[in-house]
Amino acid sequence: MPRPTYYESLSPAFTGAIPRSLACHREEGEFVFGKTLSLSPLAAERLGETLRRFGTEAVVCEEGAQVVLSQEGSLPAEGFRLEVTPQRISLAYGDASGRIYGLGALEQLLFLAYRFGADQAMLECGILEDQPRLPWRGVMLDSARHFQSPAVIVRLLRAMGRLRLNRFHWHLTDGEGWRLPCPGAPELSSLGTLQQGGYRREEIQEICAVARENGIMIVPEIDFPGHNRGLLELHRELRCDPQGGSNEICLGNPDSLAFAKARFQEAMELFPDSQYFHIGGDEAWDGNWRACPKCQAKCRELGLPSARKLEEWFMRELSQFLVDHGKTPISWRTEAILTPQNVLQCWGNANDMNACAWHDQGENLVISSIDNAYYLDYPQASEEPRFCWMVNLSEEGVYSANPAAHMGEKLGERLLGLECPLWTELVPEWRIGAKLFPRLVAAAESAWSPSGGSFGDYLSRRRALELAGYLWW
Ligand code: ACM
Ligand code: ZN
Repeated sequence: MPRPTYYESLSPAFTGAIPRSLACHREEGEFVFGKTLSLSPLAAERLGETLRRFGTEAVVCEEGAQVVLSQEGSLPAEGFRLEVTPQRISLAYGDASGRIYGLGALEQLLFLAYRFGADQAMLECGILEDQPRLPWRGVMLDSARHFQSPAVIVRLLRAMGRLRLNRFHWHLTDGEGWRLPCPGAPELSSLGTLQQGGYRREEIQEICAVARENGIMIVPEIDFPGHNRGLLELHRELRCDPQGGSNEICLGNPDSLAFAKARFQEAMELFPDSQYFHIGGDEAWDGNWRACPKCQAKCRELGLPSARKLEEWFMRELSQFLVDHGKTPISWRTEAILTPQNVLQCWGNANDMNACAWHDQGENLVISSIDNAYYLDYPQASEEPRFCWMVNLSEEGVYSANPAAHMGEKLGERLLGLECPLWTELVPEWRIGAKLFPRLVAAAESAWSPSGGSFGDYLSRRRALELAGYLWW
């Protein structure tokens, strides 16, 4: 059957991947797919099912396969090079993540290659080289306000792997729920406001395995010292005023710090692959601490001038505990110098980001908001449920946000990465996919690809992949 004449203009099969590649060199010729395709074992494992659906039988072949993989020490972490010649498709990668991402890119290209049917399937020859712009490319999911089943978490991790997103920041505790299994405090999973459920140890182990398979590090968050209403309903003794209501744990009670450390100790055991642990640090009110005899006595003992300084002390102690265990603490932006290792997650506006300038310790800033650009709980369209402070955040708004443009030169050097939070006060489990997509695709390209991409070009690649049958979620 003759190939339609508009083929070339529709979407060159070599440059169609998302995120956009660092470099593509077109060469003469085409790789034409047939009834069978021989692949080295790992490639067959990843692509065999897709090829079968397209009508090509995947044959596993140890030596001399048409699709071959090789590790190359000279390639950077997470990087890969895909070379297509008329005879062979060769994927070289720097590490396991590079292999995962390279196979993922090849899978997208297969969708484009087969879009007119198996009898016309071909890939243009050339070399595609890729490596990430930013080392931290994250998603945060709030599993506390609304609970999501392990199946939805696994689905998200697989979608992240396809988008080369490598950090799953898991907001596991908040006023409304405590979803971590805590052997030392099992009562936390039985509180009235926490009835939607929690994750069992075995479920978390399975989730960790899927994260590993997809090149993703989980960053578990246990939010202190605020966002603790549920915990403090159960443990009134950890409130400044046991009879009052409070979201903040009492900083002057020595049991509070011991409680927090014990929960992180358990989390380190539950998440053995995790290097980063998130200690929270957002939106704590200092009114209860200012009025609390225990907090005030602790301030005097430590020679601290204010409740805010006491909060800093508490967060520093918690950070140091993690550092002493070989882990890296991360917190929502705080101007306090906690430890030299701490990573800061910025979630305010440009002024907030620049207020982090004091913390001159290398690449340690993760940007989640520049005037809300990565807050995926914000509506995409005005028909969506929203809080009054939320503005519409379009796919183009996400794609074109450029935190570096708002940061002083010094801060620009310290950009570790981007992260999209999905808070779930208004998002039940079945709306997770609708909230994330397509904006997460735009965010993934903006974190991975060289800056300066065109939204129009991105959009045509996204649509071409979707029209070819590729699913993000
Ligand atoms: C936040 O949005 N409370 C970090
Ligand atoms: Zn107190």
